[in-house]
Amino acid sequence: RRVIVVNGPNLGRLGVREPDVYGHQDLASLRAKCQAWGRDLGLEVDVRQSDDEGEVIGWMHQAVDEATPVVMNPAAFTHYSYGLADAAAQVSDAGLPLMEVHISNPAARESFRRLSVISPVATGTITGMGFFGYRLALEAVAHCLEEDRK
Ligand code: DQA
Repeated sequence: RRVIVVNGPNLGRLGVREPDVYGHQDLASLRAKCQAWGRDLGLEVDVRQSDDEGEVIGWMHQAVDEATPVVMNPAAFTHYSYGLADAAAQVSDAGLPLMEVHISNPAARESFRRLSVISPVATGTITGMGFFGYRLALEAVAHCLEEDRK
């Protein structure tokens, strides 16, 4: 089964952007890890990144149309994009797993990061575990798909 792993704005800068917060590894290395973790779980993982809100919203519509589960780090869109929240709601309303991931723990940072407009429509949220959070999110997707089959 195919899963998309969507990364929002500035995550193309992983490795160079605030390495103390986001680590020293880049997006290519996150992609390779997600693909390897997916293989372990029987999932074909397609890792994407965009700085463009409209493009990320379009990926949610595509996920609904193609019945594709989503792992998403909405990055800064997390905190203010009602457009993305409405698009993400369509994914979870369709009964598809939608796991929200943050590399850092936004609750432990600036106050504007405490609000997620995505969390209310996500199946679940994983924060503060670095790149490993994507592995946990992929495991959660595999778990949800397994439960659906029962
Ligand atoms: C982030 C946390 C957000 O607050 C921030 O805007 C990001 C990355 C994270 O992965 O920890 O860009 O989503």
